[in-house]
Amino acid sequence: MSQNLSSEPKRVFSGVQPTGQLHLGNYLGAIKKFVDLQHQHQCLFCVVDLHAITVPQERAMLAANSREIAAAFLAAGIDPDKAIVFVQSSVPAHAELAWILNCTARMGWLERMTQFKDKAGKDKERASVGLFAYPVLQAADILAYRATHVPVGEDQKQHLELSRDIAERFNRDYEAPGFFPSPEPLIQGPGARIMSLKNGSVKMSKSDPSDLSRINMNDSAEQITRKIKKARTDPDGIPSEVEGLEGRDGAKNLIGIYAALDEISVQDVLTEFAGQGWGQFKPALAELAVAKLSPVSEEFTRLMNDTRALDKVLQDGAERAHAISEPIMAEVRKYIGFWKG
Ligand code: AMP
Ligand code: TRP
Repeated sequence: MSQNLSSEPKRVFSGVQPTGQLHLGNYLGAIKKFVDLQHQHQCLFCVVDLHAITVPQERAMLAANSREIAAAFLAAGIDPDKAIVFVQSSVPAHAELAWILNCTARMGWLERMTQFKDKAGKDKERASVGLFAYPVLQAADILAYRATHVPVGEDQKQHLELSRDIAERFNRDYEAPGFFPSPEPLIQGPGARIMSLKNGSVKMSKSDPSDLSRINMNDSAEQITRKIKKARTDPDGIPSEVEGLEGRDGAKNLIGIYAALDEISVQDVLTEFAGQGWGQFKPALAELAVAKLSPVSEEFTRLMNDTRALDKVLQDGAERAHAISEPIMAEVRKYIGFWKG
């Protein structure tokens, strides 16, 4: 039925949830990397609305939020003629394969997932079954296209490991050697883990109640500058070597943000600013952040005012994604032995 994958080209898949505002962590950890990858590989970038409903969403907001993520992808430089940009719920393979893989994944594997523990909080009895099974849907997203590479931030590492376990187990259980590839995470670089501007030991996140903790993709130049000025650092200045950032979470975070925005190494940033104080570094970082983010946010606003064009991109993306996933799903059904194989 299936051929050996080693001879097949790489295929990249990633997803972003349409919940709340996109921030600098999403941009540097994920979206900016998507832009580079589209030139080298076949890429699918998905707005994962089925993941979003694992926690309650407002009906009036969901479609608008999905368009927002799609607009952010395009504004950041993803070319919809090259990469496939689409919404998860518009392609049936995701939900179908997720169910099948729910029967492949083991309870014990999912019980180890730290994101469920964080998101469910104390009252895990009241969390939705979907929130628990969330990483299985993520595995389905990737495997429905037999994607080989997955650019994500570091917080997704555990989910990617689970995707590999699920792929291998499916191949074994259904005697389908090599059918699903073991997807590899692409996590490297200083943008992989952007921390809160208020607390360098927790990640920058949509759910942080303090807006000062994050830079949103649509913040104005003034807001960006103000937030960077107020970011937590320490009394020491900028060291000349990477070791000098050890144990200095806030300092390390700002230097890392500079490196990721300017696409240089952390050491290069240190070499440039060694010996200076934060009073000198922060304005330079603010200037860089504004220069890199304002064109993206302007383009984002323009795209959001043209919903018809956006919807056309998403409709076309759904068709192209379906055309790839459907033959793969047909093979999956055969391996399992369904009536409509
Ligand atoms: P989410 O908004 O949770 O769907 O995340 C979308 C993408 O952004 C995923 O690849 C995450 O790993 C990445 N991401 C989210 N927060 C951060 C962060 N603070 N630093 C780096 N990457 C992040
Ligand atoms: N779980 C990811 C996040 O919260 C989003 C996601 C869903 C994803 N499906 C995916 C990422 C598939 C990569 C591949 O960020």
